[in-house]
This record gives sequence, structure tokens and C-alpha cells, in this order.
Amino acid sequence: MSEKPLHGIMKSFIFLLPVIFYACNSKNVTLSQLKKVENQLEGLREAAMAENRIPRSITKEGNIRWIIQPYDWTEGFWPGTCWMLYQQTQDEKWKEAAIAAQKLIEHHKDLTNDHDLGFIFNNSYGKAYRITGEEQYKKVLIDASNALITRFNDAVGCIKSWDVAGNWQAERGWKFPVIIDNLMNLEMLFEASNITGDSLYRNIAITHANTTMENHFRPDGSSYHVVDYDPETGEVRSKVTAQGFADESAWARGQAWALYGYTMCYRYTKDQKYLDFAEKIADFILHHSNYPKDGVPYWDFNASDIPKAPKDASAGAIIASALIELSGYTNDKYLKNAKHILNTLSGDAYTAKPGENQHFVLMHSVSNFPSGNEVDVPLNYADYYYTEALTRWLMKRTE
Ligand code: GLY
Repeated sequence: MSEKPLHGIMKSFIFLLPVIFYACNSKNVTLSQLKKVENQLEGLREAAMAENRIPRSITKEGNIRWIIQPYDWTEGFWPGTCWMLYQQTQDEKWKEAAIAAQKLIEHHKDLTNDHDLGFIFNNSYGKAYRITGEEQYKKVLIDASNALITRFNDAVGCIKSWDVAGNWQAERGWKFPVIIDNLMNLEMLFEASNITGDSLYRNIAITHANTTMENHFRPDGSSYHVVDYDPETGEVRSKVTAQGFADESAWARGQAWALYGYTMCYRYTKDQKYLDFAEKIADFILHHSNYPKDGVPYWDFNASDIPKAPKDASAGAIIASALIELSGYTNDKYLKNAKHILNTLSGDAYTAKPGENQHFVLMHSVSNFPSGNEVDVPLNYADYYYTEALTRWLMKRTE
């Protein structure tokens, strides 16, 4: 054998050393971040088990804010987080915590008065099924999917987000409000079709995604929060906001839901138009002049008091998780952005000191700025998507 090929191999090896080092090192960093998450959430697990309740945030007085009945769109995130920690650690205590929490919400599976069933059940029972493979969790997902599709309207081509009669939505004059967040409920419907073999759920999901693509977005790839439809004709009545700074602004978490939503639609359909759209949304977010250097957005891209406006760590975590999945279908630039966001979230500016923050991991999220509800607080869904993003990073797969 001549020396030349060996020389070539050596050269390649030396060239690859930084890449190998980076890969190993970044895996260790992610592992240590996940360990920090587990250590911090242990305190929340103990409190939740003792109270037999589901944590949501912290109160103005600094106590744990628990989920309050009759139901709450965030109630699936805590069991989902416990399932992810079980997946990573194989420690039965996390499985027990997940099961205890999701038992508290199981009876909500048949609710037909709200669209959040996907958020609630896909992230709890759905994670349970995908992580354990246990058949018992399937029925809950299918029941919740059947309840969710009762809200689909053929004329509109969407699932109604909020009921109007007797609620604050009536004061806004809405008839059939659909919010951008609703894209996230579609994942459960895609799963329901995969489980049952019945394409009904998937077809509804695709129709909703297509209608939303047509009506919810501006030419620059940003989205409105609420589109109100005429339920008889399907015509768009108005494009406005509920949780954003203004009707024409880009509410940060809404942009995050849109990015995650179309990336997820591509996962289930392999339809190129969803992937192209997800990239367009990603480019809107990442290249916006008000997108901060640290990668964690202000609560609204058009808030009037930037740079003093509160940041929203939950939006940052959702964007990071979505970008990791997107990078698997496209290219590594999104992975770099995701890692940058995760590094920021893992630093002292966003990660609480051990035992502080009522044992939630992340600080500085915004739930609903216009109503003054949960501004600059920890949120169970910020921790959920942060944990999911770290897990995705580590496992280099999407679920
Ligand atoms: N409705 C979900 C959110 O507030 O983002």
C-alpha cells in the first residue's frame, strides 16, 4: 500500500477532529442541561404528588399556581414533561408522576366546547403512547380526537377555536374564531389516523392547515393571531388579535406555533408546501430586526417598548424545538439557531438557580400580556418545550 491514501485518511481525520469534538461536547452539554432540568423539576414533582395537582406557573405571591378546574389548556404539559424525563432517565418515579397527573385530566377527553384537546391529550397521553408503546393510552387519544373534530366546519374548512356565545369573544363580535395556536392540535389528529387507519382525522387536519395557510398569514410570513370566519359561508370576517400587541403585529408565541405547526404537518404528510412554508416562517422570525441577539423573542415582535418589552422564554423554547425538527428536513443553519436559543435559555438569565422559581426551570415567559395575566413568570409549557428541545437535540430525532 502506498503512503498516499494513509496520508489522505490522516488529513481527513485531523480535519474532522473539531467536528468530532463539537459533536461529543454538544452531547455532553445537552446531557448536563437535561440533568439540571431533572434536578430542578424534582421539587415540583414532589409538590405535585403531595398535592395531587398539576402545576402551571407561580402566583403573584410567589406560590405554585396550580391548574384550576373545570379545565385548562396547559394541563397536559406537566405529565408530558414527566414522560420525557422518564424516557431519558428510565426512572419509574417520573412515569408514576406522569400517570398520576394525566389521570386527573382524562375525563376531559370528551369535551367539545374548546379546541385545546390536542394540546392537552397529545402532549400527555400521546407522549405516553409514543414513549411506552402501551396500548391503553390509544383510546384516550382517539376519544379526544373524536371530540375535537366535532368542532370542524366544512364551509370554513377549520376547527373552531373558541365558542362565542356567552363568552368574552361575543363582545368582540366574533362568530367562528380560529387562532393560529390551533395548528398545534392537528398533531393529535394525524396520530389518530395513524393509530386507527381512518383517514378522517388526517383529512380534517390537512384541510385546517391549508385554510390557515391561506388566511392567517401576511406576505412576509408572519401570522395574525385570530381569524374570524362566517360559519355559514366560510368567508373571512376579520383578522385581529387577542394576545398580541396589535391586530397587525406578530405575537411571538403565535409565530412559534406556526413554525412548529407547519414543520409538524410536513412530518406527517411530506407535502413540500408545508416545508417551504415552515422555512418562510423561520426566516421571518430569525431575520426580524426586532429578534434579539440572544435568540429569545420579545413577547411580540412589534411591542412598542422594545428593548424594554418582556421576553417570552416559552416562545424561544417552542422555536428551538421546531427548528431542530426543521433542520432534520432542510439544513443545519436551523440547528445552529436552535442551539443558540437553547444555550441562552440554559444560562443564568433564563434558568432559575436550583430550588428557586418554585422548582420550575425557566424564568421570564409571558402568557397573556394584554390581559396582564402571567407576565414575566415561569410556565409549564416553557419547561415542556425546553425539555422537548433538549431531548430532540440529544436524540437527533423529532419525537
Ligand atoms: N393558547 C395558547 C397560547 O396562549 O399560546
